[in-house]
Amino acid sequence: MRKKPGNAPASLFFALLLFVMPMTLRAEEGAALFRQYCMACHGEQGVGTAGLAPPLQNAELWDALGEDSARYLLAVMNGGLSGAIRAQGVDYIGLVMPPQAHIKPEEREKIARYVLETLNGAQANIASALEAEIAGASLSHKTLRLARNGKSGLSHKVAHR
Ligand code: HEC
Repeated sequence: MRKKPGNAPASLFFALLLFVMPMTLRAEEGAALFRQYCMACHGEQGVGTAGLAPPLQNAELWDALGEDSARYLLAVMNGGLSGAIRAQGVDYIGLVMPPQAHIKPEEREKIARYVLETLNGAQANIASALEAEIAGASLSHKTLRLARNGKSGLSHKVAHR
């Protein structure tokens, strides 16, 4: 049988499609989970809701947290957050985020990817942060606030548990 030269671009196209599709699906799943679990408070695409919950589309926050970004995000999802914080020049005082530990770890991972990668274009080592969390690391709200305000890192705190 003779091979038709015209097939090469087509098979390349399908190979590319098979590669890209799972990534797109994963991002869409993350967006759907975010809408289900986070949007009521944090607003569409995490823009925040004045007087209710701070923005999660906040490049300044994730830049400041740097390599702690995924740990911080997962720890807040796991244990919630309370205490005054300031985000993009707005104070959030007397508000409490309830723990979201009812969300399955693989779903939390997808939400974390959506928030960090899709909404903020940030790179983050989500898988290793998730492993540390599943291994039983839980961080106090005070520790989380100190980390978010640049007063201490989270990595050693997780590693020592
Ligand atoms: C019932 C409302 C509510 C829901 C649902 C909720 N949050 Fe929150 N979230 C808050 C509030 C309120 C704060 C601020 C707490 C504070 O002031 O200490 C917060 C804070 C945060 C922070 C810290 C932001 C910062 O600037 O440091 C992150 C990260 C976060 N939430 C992620 C999530 C994610 C992801 C979800 C969905 C899985 C979610 N939240 C669901 C109310 C909520």
